Formats: sequence, C-alpha cells, structure tokens
Amino acid sequence: MVFSQIGFTSLLRSLGLAQGLLKPAPGALDPNAPQQSLSTQATTLPQTSLNAFAATLHDSPASVEVLDSGDCYVQNYTGPSLIDSYSPFDPVKATIYRYRQQQSVNLGSWFVHEQWMTPSTFKCSSGKQLSEHDIASGWGSTTAARAVLERHWDSFISQEDFYYLASIGINTVRIPIGYWSLGPTYCRDTAFADVAEVYANSWSRVKHAIIMADQAGLGVLVDLHGAPGSQNGQPHSGISDGQTTLFADPSNVEKTMQILTFLAGELSEVTNVVGVQILNEPKNVDSLEDFCGIRNVSSAAEALPLYIHDGFDLTRFSRYVGNRSDFVVQDHHSYFVYTSADENETASDHATDVRSTVLNDLDYASRTGHRNLVVDEWSCALAPQSLAEESDKGGAQQRFCTDQSIAYSSAVAGWGFWGEIPIDRLFRVCLRIVFALQLT
Ligand SMILES: *[C@@H]1O[C@H](CO)[C@@H](O)[C@H](O)[C@H]1NC(C)=O
Ligand SMILES: *[C@@H]1O[C@H](CO)[C@@H](O)[C@H](O)[C@H]1NC(C)=O
Ligand SMILES: *[C@@H]1O[C@H](CO)[C@@H](O)[C@H](O)[C@H]1NC(C)=O
Ligand SMILES: *[C@@H]1O[C@H](CO)[C@@H](O)[C@H](O)[C@H]1NC(C)=O
Repeated sequence: MVFSQIGFTSLLRSLGLAQGLLKPAPGALDPNAPQQSLSTQATTLPQTSLNAFAATLHDSPASVEVLDSGDCYVQNYTGPSLIDSYSPFDPVKATIYRYRQQQSVNLGSWFVHEQWMTPSTFKCSSGKQLSEHDIASGWGSTTAARAVLERHWDSFISQEDFYYLASIGINTVRIPIGYWSLGPTYCRDTAFADVAEVYANSWSRVKHAIIMADQAGLGVLVDLHGAPGSQNGQPHSGISDGQTTLFADPSNVEKTMQILTFLAGELSEVTNVVGVQILNEPKNVDSLEDFCGIRNVSSAAEALPLYIHDGFDLTRFSRYVGNRSDFVVQDHHSYFVYTSADENETASDHATDVRSTVLNDLDYASRTGHRNLVVDEWSCALAPQSLAEESDKGGAQQRFCTDQSIAYSSAVAGWGFWGEIPIDRLFRVCLRIVFALQLT
C-alpha cells in the first residue's frame, strides 16, 4: 500500500473531489473512457486524521498473486461463521427507521462490483473486466472466484465501519445487491447460471450486512441494482454486454417479480430494513410502474415500503407517487458530470443551478409526491472542465458540494451520498469531507 507516500492533495484527488474517475454515465456505456486529468487544490481538513484513517484501509483481496505465467493464484478461503438471525421484529422501532429523514450513504461495490471502485477484484476477471459477471466467471475457476468474492464480502466493510458511519451522523445505508446475491436458485436460467455456485454463500453475507447495520442503529435500503436481463445495460447492473433485456422479455420480468417477492418475504419484518428498492436506474420505459404490482403478491409485500427509481423522469414519477396512498417512495439521482452540457458549465454555475432550478424542481416534485421523494445518489463530482476556469477550484467545488447537501436536506425526505472513490474503502474519508463541508 502506498497511502503513506501520497500527500493530502493527491489523496483528495484520489477521492474524486478532484474528479479522478467518474461514475459511468446513465444511458452511456463507455468502458474505455480515459481517466480524467486532475486539477483540484486541497481543501482545509486536517491531514493527520485523514492519513491515520487511510492507513487502516486495505485493498482486497489480499491473498492473490499474479504468476509469471499470467495466471492468478488464489488462496482458498473459509469465512467466519456469521450471526444469521435478525433481532425480533420491533414495529415501533421499525416505524422510526422507516419514517425519519434519511441521511444515507451508498455501500457500492460490496455486492455489486464496479471496476472503478474495487479494481483489485477485477485483476484476474474475464471478458471486458467491467462487471460482477466478469469477476464471477474469471479468476481461473468457480472455486477461486468464490474465494475472491467471499473474502471481499467479509472484509470490505466491517462492523467498525457501520459504527463509524453512525458516529458522523449517517442514519441509513443503501446497499446495492444483484439478483445473484440471493444465491444459486435465483441464478437459474440467467446470465449468472454458469457461475451460480460462486454465490452459494452470498445471501448470508447480505443478511449479515443488515445485522451489522442494526447493531449500529442504521437503517438499510436494500436496492436491487442488478435484475435479470438488466434494467439499464450498465456494467453496474452486473453485465458487460451493454444489453437491456429485462423489459422486453416476460420471463425476466417474471424472475424479477420472484426476486422482489423473496426480498419482501425476507425483509418486511426486519426492524432496520427501511424498504426495498425495486430497480436501480432503470430505462424509463412505460411498464416501469408495473413493478409496484409486487405490493399485491403477499401479506409481507403489503407491509413493505417500496422505493421506485424514476428512470431520471422526475415529473412522471412524482405524479405517480402522489396518486398512491401506500408507502411508495420515488428515488431520483442527481449528478452534474455526465453530459457535454454539464461539462461546459462552470462549478459556480452548477452551484447556482443547484440553489435555484434544481432546488425548485425537487421542491415541486416533492410536493406533488407528498414528499415521498429521496435523492439516493449524489456526489461532489464535477468534470475537470467545469473547474478549469475557476480561480479557486477547491472553494468552487466545496460550494457546489455544500449547496447540494443543503438542497437535498431541505427539499426531499432523504438523501444518499455516493462516494466517487476509485480506491477500496476510501469512501469513508470522502464522507468525512462531505460532513466537514456541511459543518463549515
Ligand atoms: C482448495 O480447495 C479445493 C476445493 O476444495 C481443493 O481441491 C484444493 O486442493 C484446495 N487448495 C489448497 C491450496 O488448499
Ligand atoms: C393491487 O390490487 C388491487 C386490488 O386488486 C388493485 O386495485 C391495485 O391496482 C393493485 N396494485 C398494484 C400496484 O398492482
Ligand atoms: C394522478 O393521476 C392523474 C391521471 O393520471 C394525473 O392527471 C394527476 O396529475 C395525478 N395526480 C397528481 C397528484 O399528480
Ligand atoms: C460544449 O462545448 C463544446 C465545445 O465548445 C461544444 O462543441 C458542445 O456543443 C457544447 N455542448 C453543449 C451541450 O452545449
């Protein structure tokens, strides 16, 4: 590890506050996009605490070697035995978890890998080396891929991390999972059929994540980030072929409903589960609302708060949610880096937009939807071009970040930060920065 050698400015850069890497753009599959150049000056947080913090981080998997032959050698792995029962359902506490305003972070690349966040797990992956499926089908064998993933599940985020998040004011986490996370039965007849055995011990890890969150008093939104056939064609839905075949294929829709039924049955009476997110960033298709039909499949599903991502159509889904009387919440994601229009705009102008049009639009949608609206992905990321003309780059980005946190804290029922961190586990440092910004 090289953290001790990198300075504070480089650390911030690596955190994405200087735009080291960008999250793949909604609607655009660009696996070979070059890393952006870096350009931001450091802000004013204490270097020592960050360095001490960085020193505790490690890149998983630790026990992998790439041999001279180019093959990968992976040590066998047997995980610890995990607590696997939830505490008894407490409806009063559940009400508090589910109805309070959410201050959340996304625990990305834990159960659904993204290359830019956890590059080490992609070292010996297969194919385009972009998606969860590339890891599961790589590493030379199913046994090896399973060892890599199990070790990652057991080490990437720990109980201590959940306590840490609680200590800085986070009250909820959003945990992306894929249908493969439910185990081999749910991989049948899908893109993951050939690697189903990799996931034999995966659901118990998701469960354990929820239990760890509970220990720390944190709510959990379980987010179906990868559905059979893919809802958006993006690598973060588990596949690298760029295809979106969920909606056109009735058998994939049916499988997705079975997955949601399973999740409802497992989770509706888990005290700290605040809800299930039906799909992450789906294509904005006409049939999107139909997935709310999950409400009617069982008595467990009747009681479950449902989160539906709006496919980036704020207006359509605020109307939809506003017309419902059950616990359905719209999720809208807010980024300012992906389009050429975003790149062409300065950081200061983006901040102005956040304080005016963005805030007004969210406020209007929030009222239309009776405040059943969250912004469960946002970040401080800006394109380098947006900062190029700013004389005080650090200050401009800080204002942009702070203005967002103010807008989302006031206009909607909850928010979830996504750390744009290219290095495993460093997301925690980024969070410190976000919270420090809010306090200044
Ligand atoms: C790892 O486990 C596999 C399957 O159980 C076994 O065949 C192999 O010998 C083990 N390898 C090592 C290095 O222990
Ligand atoms: C659930 O069932 C009721 C009664 O059959 C129906 O009116 C309602 O539209 C259904 N809800 C969904 C989301 O499909
Ligand atoms: C409810 O649905 C109707 C008809 O689809 C629509 O015109 C109206 O805007 C919706 N209600 C709200 C609160 O937006
Ligand atoms: C952004 O700027 C570039 C270069 O000036 C221009 O070609 C492009 O059309 C602009 N994009 C938008 C959306 O304005």
